[in-house]
Amino acid sequence: MSDTLHSADDNSNRSGNTTFESILQQRLARRDVLRGGLSVAATSMFGGFALVGCGGSSNGGGGGDPVATPDALGFSAVPKNLSDRVTLPAGYSARALYAFGDPISATVSDFSNDGTDGDSALRAGDQHDGMYYFGLSDSGTADHNNSSRGLLCINHEQVLDDYIHANGQRNVDANGNRLAAEVVKEMNAHGVSVIEVRDGASGWEYVQDSSFNRRVTAFTNMNITGPARGNARLTTPYSSGGTRTRGTLNNCGHGYTPWGTYLTCEENWFSYFRRDDDMAQRSLADNALFARYGMGPDSRGFSYRDWDTVSGDVYTRFDITVKAASAAADYRNEPNTFGYIVEIDPYSATSTPQKRTALGRFVHEGAWVGPVRAGQPIVYYMGCDSRFEYIYKYVSNANWDPADAVAGLTAGDKYLDDGKLYVARFNADGSGDWIELGFGLNGLNADNSLFPFTNQGDICVATRLAADAVGATQMDRPEWGAVNPVNGEVYMTLTNNTARTAVDATDAANPRNYARSGTGATNGNPNGHTIRWREDGDNVGATSFTWDIYLFGAPANADPSLANVSGLTDDNDHSSPDGLWFDNRGVLWIQTDDGEFPGAGRSNNQMLAALPGSVGDGGPRTIGSQATVVGAPATPDTVRRFLVGPVGCEITGVDMTPDNRTMFVNVQHPGEGGSLDEPRSTWPSNSRNALVSGETGNRPRSATIVITRDDGGEIGL
Ligand code: FEO
Ligand code: CA
Ligand code: CA
Repeated sequence: MSDTLHSADDNSNRSGNTTFESILQQRLARRDVLRGGLSVAATSMFGGFALVGCGGSSNGGGGGDPVATPDALGFSAVPKNLSDRVTLPAGYSARALYAFGDPISATVSDFSNDGTDGDSALRAGDQHDGMYYFGLSDSGTADHNNSSRGLLCINHEQVLDDYIHANGQRNVDANGNRLAAEVVKEMNAHGVSVIEVRDGASGWEYVQDSSFNRRVTAFTNMNITGPARGNARLTTPYSSGGTRTRGTLNNCGHGYTPWGTYLTCEENWFSYFRRDDDMAQRSLADNALFARYGMGPDSRGFSYRDWDTVSGDVYTRFDITVKAASAAADYRNEPNTFGYIVEIDPYSATSTPQKRTALGRFVHEGAWVGPVRAGQPIVYYMGCDSRFEYIYKYVSNANWDPADAVAGLTAGDKYLDDGKLYVARFNADGSGDWIELGFGLNGLNADNSLFPFTNQGDICVATRLAADAVGATQMDRPEWGAVNPVNGEVYMTLTNNTARTAVDATDAANPRNYARSGTGATNGNPNGHTIRWREDGDNVGATSFTWDIYLFGAPANADPSLANVSGLTDDNDHSSPDGLWFDNRGVLWIQTDDGEFPGAGRSNNQMLAALPGSVGDGGPRTIGSQATVVGAPATPDTVRRFLVGPVGCEITGVDMTPDNRTMFVNVQHPGEGGSLDEPRSTWPSNSRNALVSGETGNRPRSATIVITRDDGGEIGL
């Protein structure tokens, strides 16, 4: 989603967990001692051999070969620009592969792109986001090593109203109710696409009539699994037992599993609902819960589209006001069935998606698997993308059995329904702790003053309140995570936080506070940073870690003491890092969502490639008055711009084929900020390489692009 749509409403964390001030003074000396000791230990433990195996690799299979960070990037930096096209280094080409509205069935007509197209359930959704390539064998089974045929799973986060309807706006009937056909189109534009893609005679294309093609939407039936399954707070008229729900919403980042399934992640799901003032009809605990998730009394979320004004309970459920005598008779609990990690089997178009509640309920950006090793737990790293929210970790109780590698959703039942959930505390000395969110632990019980937790299911529904209660560290909007296949270290973008305005509200892990380039106001952390950590003992299940800040976003000409701390230049300056991905060679890809990088040196959003070092390759640093720990400075040799997108877009979502010769990237909401009368972009129809057969209009369309090197070589190196 556009950064601009993360409104101030998304800061509902009032817990006051700032944590660091009291220990600020005592930590410096201890940190220096600690870090010196740890860097020696880390060197001896790693000794140059790969710890990750398949877990950190792009595509989940194989593994075992040592991975070393490549010596050098192999392309010239792309200049910042404001062109309405995809800009790549010399020797690279891109074209649109799968754009909003494209048909995924032989029976559906080409997309005219004038707002009149029907069959939205069998067309590409809008606002492509997180994405994963699953290799497919010639016989149509899973083949993690196939680089010429696969299934792309693609999230569709949101809808751009300006271009989806015939006249460029939402329309209502004589009673002020939304037109059902428009609401159906909007709900179908959300969710996930599963599409077959092939490298054919004329290059990469999606297979319109593949039997694997599928749309998961805001209508799709889903099971609820894990500790919150059957919890009384999930009772609805649709599922009195609290075991099922319909649809997934605001699918932002993603994840994959070592057993061949896709994870889609529900981010700003709370923003679709309407709640009137029913405070008196709800319990104290329910009022606390709904307020903490941005749904206080008499509220309309920032994505509220009056879907509830269409008749039928699949629509009216978006009004969550208490109206009846019980939760089985109105949709007061509907939002409690959203906010989860959702598992989808891409190889079975008829399988039922599973909402895996054990991984907690919050504004889920994505879920990134840790190093996968036989006999050890499966671990996921996750962030809650709102201001002052937290970073989480899930550790399965079952240990990984490689025999489960093709077990699909059955393995999901084993590894994702039963585990321990943790939240991160980043200590000022460069150490960190994973605090367990387990029922009966750390004060998470019925006597808790924030919320009465009576079982683990309650923690999995009211996860933010549990994290508040244990003193987790409030972060500058956690976005994507990525795990380095070279050494198992975990990276996570913290995209920005303009609400962290006061110097005394900074902390070591979120240390910056300065005025954004071109503005006069003190403005918190407007450009974002990327943090990283290494689990103690390189144990995926560790409850402590060591961290530093890998990279700070900033304009190249910004103050190097407060803003451009990493020493960025015109070749690599960026702002608001969001998408993040390690390929299987150890190259880190960084994508941005920054409303076109205002200030001097403006540019459309972009993607950079990087060759990172490791935790501890820099050292202590004081930014303003805030002490922190930073990584080695960036140089154009280690961080370099690879791609700039068209006007108004966000670049988000990236994967490659296992041979690293084909890259898929998503261009989300080109033309945002424009209108049908004054569109800011006509991409991709303005691109001579676009696949737009049958298109008569030229409205901007979100799309997956496919990038190849003209000489057929590996991307980036
Ligand atoms: Fe949908 Fe947090 O970006
Ligand atoms: Ca974002
Ligand atoms: Ca994002």
